[in-house]
Amino acid sequence: MPQLFDAYTLSGLPLRNRIVMAPMTRARNPDAVPNDLTALYYRQRASAGLIVSEGVPVSEMANGNLYVPGLYTPEQQEGWSHVTQAVHEEGGAIFAQLWHVGRASHQNLLHGRKPHSSTARTADTKVFAYDLNGKPGFVQATEPHAMTTDEVRETAFDFGKAAGRAIRAGFDGVEIHGANGYLLEQFMNPLVNDRTDQYGAQTMDDRLRFVLEVVDNVVAATAPGKVGVRLSPWGRFNDMPDYAQLEETYLQLIRKLDERELAYVHLMDQSNGQGRPDAEGQNEAFLRKVREAFPRGAIIVAGAMTLEVGNHLLQQGLVDLVGFGQPFIPNPDLVQRLQHGWPLEQPDRRTYYGGGREGYTDYPNYQG
Ligand SMILES: Cc1cc2nc3c(=O)[nH]c(=O)nc-3n(C[C@H](O)[C@H](O)[C@H](O)COP(=O)(O)O)c2cc1C
Repeated sequence: MPQLFDAYTLSGLPLRNRIVMAPMTRARNPDAVPNDLTALYYRQRASAGLIVSEGVPVSEMANGNLYVPGLYTPEQQEGWSHVTQAVHEEGGAIFAQLWHVGRASHQNLLHGRKPHSSTARTADTKVFAYDLNGKPGFVQATEPHAMTTDEVRETAFDFGKAAGRAIRAGFDGVEIHGANGYLLEQFMNPLVNDRTDQYGAQTMDDRLRFVLEVVDNVVAATAPGKVGVRLSPWGRFNDMPDYAQLEETYLQLIRKLDERELAYVHLMDQSNGQGRPDAEGQNEAFLRKVREAFPRGAIIVAGAMTLEVGNHLLQQGLVDLVGFGQPFIPNPDLVQRLQHGWPLEQPDRRTYYGGGREGYTDYPNYQG
């Protein structure tokens, strides 16, 4: 029976164990370029089987947070190359999470321009930007601009360009951020997408057209086995309303990803928080449908995972890899702690975003 500490081969990439460090924005890069501290943070956590980097904006317009490192300039590519080198020196593997926030942004992050989205309707959500006093804080997202058809195509190209940079920076692959109410979901959701062009919400194919173009551009710049997609069905984060065809939309998308022979689908299960009410049984039933729709690649699930739940899902054959987010913040040696039954530290939420070393690289390994 598989368990968390077993090795795994992800589309030809050997992983030391089945524990994935889930992507986490930490907002420690004021100039948007990864630095020595970034490299140290990831090096400390490289015993994860696979690290998925924090969300990395694919262009200037993709950004929705202060201090987030991007992947659209030569300096950023160079900065990331030190991160990937550090992780590889420790024997780890790392994918870059390619991110466009869409309307979950603020014009003061975008040189006064309106955030780009599938719609011109403002999201009822907060973003990490400058407040009225010019201080960093969480502020209401501002009114977006509904992208023109050409802008939609260009944005899909931006993902491909960033994916090429990721590979040149030494990443083992890329994860497309299709979760948490950001741009890709703003196209997929028929209650947010109010377009009338071929990327509109008239049919399911239209709603999925943009995300699949992004996938195809990214695959063209890398290889199918180097690409994963993160999804959060039933997630309410960033003002995503529920709709009748939600489950079928995701299953249809996942079938299309299987046709493209991608490395993995990464599900963020928000059912413990603001997502679907309930219920382990329902989640497992959905995971079975995902397995059926995606028989060739790996399935990752993240969201309040524990050793016990992770092993249970692996042993049921429902997932191949298990993602842990917050536990990796105060426990850089999370894998060893879980393996030996050592106590887990609790993270300090006040240092999740912004600042320097504190709450970032100053959590020690277990001292015994
Ligand atoms: C500080 C913080 C930043 C996060 N940033 C991202 C991100 O950039 N991209 C993403 O897909 N999810 C992000 N998440 C969600 C995590 O990847 C993960 O799915 C979530 O924390 C649930 O897993 P956990 O209960 O193990 O923490 C973030 C979560 C936290 C706590």
